[in-house]
Amino acid sequence: MKLSLSLLLFFFFFLFVSEARGLSPGCSAQDQGSTLKVFHVFSPCSPFRPKSPQSWAESVLQLQAKDQARMQYLSSLVAGRSVVPIASGRQITQSPTYIVRAKIGTPAQTMLLAMDTSSDVAWIPCAGCIGCSSSTLFSPVKSTSFRSLKCGAPQCRQVPSPTCGGGACNFNLTYGSSTIAANLVQDTVALATDPVPGYTFGCIQKATGSSVPPQGLLGLGRGPLSLLSQTQNLYKSTFSYCLPSFKSPNFSGSLKLGPIAQPKRIKFTPLLKNPRRSSLYYVNLIAIRVGRRVVDVPPAALAFNPTTGAGTIFDSGTVFTRLVEPAYVAVRNAFRRRVGRNLTVTSLGGFDTCYTVPINAPTITFMFAGMNVTLPQDNLLIHSTAGSITCLAMASAPDNVNSVLNVIANMQQQNHRVLYDLPNSRIGVSRFLWGLIII
Ligand SMILES: *[C@@H]1O[C@H](CO)[C@@H](O)[C@H](O)[C@H]1NC(C)=O
Ligand SMILES: *[C@@H]1O[C@H](CO)[C@@H](O)[C@H](O)[C@H]1NC(C)=O
Ligand SMILES: *[C@@H]1O[C@H](CO)[C@@H](O)[C@H](O)[C@H]1NC(C)=O
Ligand SMILES: *[C@@H]1O[C@H](CO)[C@@H](O)[C@H](O)[C@H]1NC(C)=O
Repeated sequence: MKLSLSLLLFFFFFLFVSEARGLSPGCSAQDQGSTLKVFHVFSPCSPFRPKSPQSWAESVLQLQAKDQARMQYLSSLVAGRSVVPIASGRQITQSPTYIVRAKIGTPAQTMLLAMDTSSDVAWIPCAGCIGCSSSTLFSPVKSTSFRSLKCGAPQCRQVPSPTCGGGACNFNLTYGSSTIAANLVQDTVALATDPVPGYTFGCIQKATGSSVPPQGLLGLGRGPLSLLSQTQNLYKSTFSYCLPSFKSPNFSGSLKLGPIAQPKRIKFTPLLKNPRRSSLYYVNLIAIRVGRRVVDVPPAALAFNPTTGAGTIFDSGTVFTRLVEPAYVAVRNAFRRRVGRNLTVTSLGGFDTCYTVPINAPTITFMFAGMNVTLPQDNLLIHSTAGSITCLAMASAPDNVNSVLNVIANMQQQNHRVLYDLPNSRIGVSRFLWGLIII
């Protein structure tokens, strides 16, 4: 009995390790089939990890500062206007949270791109770029399959505010606190082992601000020119990812492209369409439970409204879940009551529910239409390495953002497989370990 239990535990551990692939991964190990490794930006494989070791508080505050810019970006998408750069005394060193490897051009040049489910177009810093922060730039002249798109190309009508310069299609866009000027170009892009000839992306010529991911961005949104739109025949508008926890930077997660080898036993919730914001993955969040009790949230705080952009989205680029204020306050108060009325609550940066003694935290369940997602402590709490402070890793929209959007962020998605199934217009979520133990 004892033996079989340890065997069973070993088996789960083995499965877990093979899912969250590669302890101390060989950073140059090649991606297989249609599955790509996903690295956290602080991973030893990431060129964007902080140069000097950071304290826990520093890295959390940095991630939070980054989220402010992200919220500003998402709110601007919803409002459909451009963003006012954030005036902040603190330098926001915004870097992407999760990165994947892509090979671009012939012969292939390897770039590490930030995954962004709320953007469509991919963009890559090109040789000669003014203001790009990366030393790794894509060199078009070294690629035999590279070509610029003409102003008359149909793709030129799908980018924001295109302009025509010397017959070539150019566009400018705002991303977080940055602006980007790029040429619309095409080249072969290979993700994992599948080459996609004639992939349309932006070749960045000029960038301002610090929000631009150093080696570029892979748009996984569902609008025109996104990866899904450009690889419909190959990947059938289907992908899933499992994001590694930022507590274990030596693990990599995975991005699986296409309908093959996706989980079968998974719960789904329908995707909602906002015609004004075609790239965002809206879902119907109906209620939130803390422990077993459904929290009293004003219905308007969760309601989907295509006109104002209000509602709930899944996003890979925001780190900590943000709820509109009335929803957050209700959840936080219920959480505090469950933890214990007598315990002193402190704050840390933007987190307002922190404790300096060990706590027994309740689970939090997001109740979507057709799917309840119950989050364990690992997805809810951040602990200092010394164990001296523990915070509820969620917040309301920051003060300078008048947000109507609830964002299910990547800390709350870690160690889950999240499946985007566009042909069936749905998102699925399954918790890896938990699912196995239940069976
Ligand atoms: C786009 O950005 C470039 C470079 O910053 C600038 O010269 C150009 O006027 C901008 N175009 C538009 C339409 O804003
Ligand atoms: C991650 O790997 C690096 C190098 O292989 C090692 O020095 C470090 O201790 C590892 N970190 C953890 C948390 O395992
Ligand atoms: C909370 O404090 C009150 C008054 O100090 C005490 O009577 C009560 O037992 C405490 N409750 C818990 C759960 O510790
Ligand atoms: C979610 O949980 C509630 C209980 O809190 C239950 O009534 C409901 O049926 C569940 N929904 C699904 C889709 O399982």
